[in-house]
Amino acid sequence: MNRAGPNSPGCFITFEGIEGSGKTTQLERLAERLRESGADVVVTREPGGTTLGRELRALVLRPAAEPMSPVAELLLYATDRAQHLSEIVEPALERGAIVLCDRYRDATMAYQGYGRELDLERILELHSREPLDRMPDRTVLLVLDPVGALARATRRNVERDLVETEGRFENERLEFHRRVARGYAALAAAEPERFRIVEAQGPVPQVSRRVVEAVRDLLPVLERDSC
Ligand code: TYD
Repeated sequence: MNRAGPNSPGCFITFEGIEGSGKTTQLERLAERLRESGADVVVTREPGGTTLGRELRALVLRPAAEPMSPVAELLLYATDRAQHLSEIVEPALERGAIVLCDRYRDATMAYQGYGRELDLERILELHSREPLDRMPDRTVLLVLDPVGALARATRRNVERDLVETEGRFENERLEFHRRVARGYAALAAAEPERFRIVEAQGPVPQVSRRVVEAVRDLLPVLERDSC
């Protein structure tokens, strides 16, 4: 049985989407808005939300001569997640914070499951026990056409000199990213209560308004100021 958010005082919101969908920008804008309203907000991410996670992130995202086996990749993300949950997410939820997390378990289903074509049941089973069974209260899925999104992500890596250190997924074939996008769509369709699909095309402030609407019902603090 997966643990759902209402069992703890905080609120756990995850952001998902393919590379270049703008989720990091949107997550930061929502955090800013919530902080202005006086909320206790924790912004974090996977992979890399902890010290151990930053080392794992470097390992998993660096383009390497030898391709990493899909199972090794799955277990590295799960390791990062286990540490992240116990060190950051659970303590924050326990004290009643709003946790905004840039990627979480749906990324593993989409990338390692649909993208790398690992057995989805195997991934679900791995996430069926503590601490990995923590479910988000809401997942905001930013959707954008993979061709435009990839161009955006690749441009960003070049601008920030990240090609050598973080370019592994951007270098994947377009077909891989299409499978990931289809995977996210299937996950969202299977859990309409938890997911909100947000169209990521358009000016940043306009997308931000869509994001606020996608979480407003969970966050009474957003009701206190006008949008
Ligand atoms: P992220 O830093 O969010 O990349 P971006 O900002 O480019 O969207 O995520 C890094 C990469 O890790 C991304 O390509 C997706 C991948 N990933 C997985 O394959 N499985 C996972 O479980 C997670 C959390 C991320």
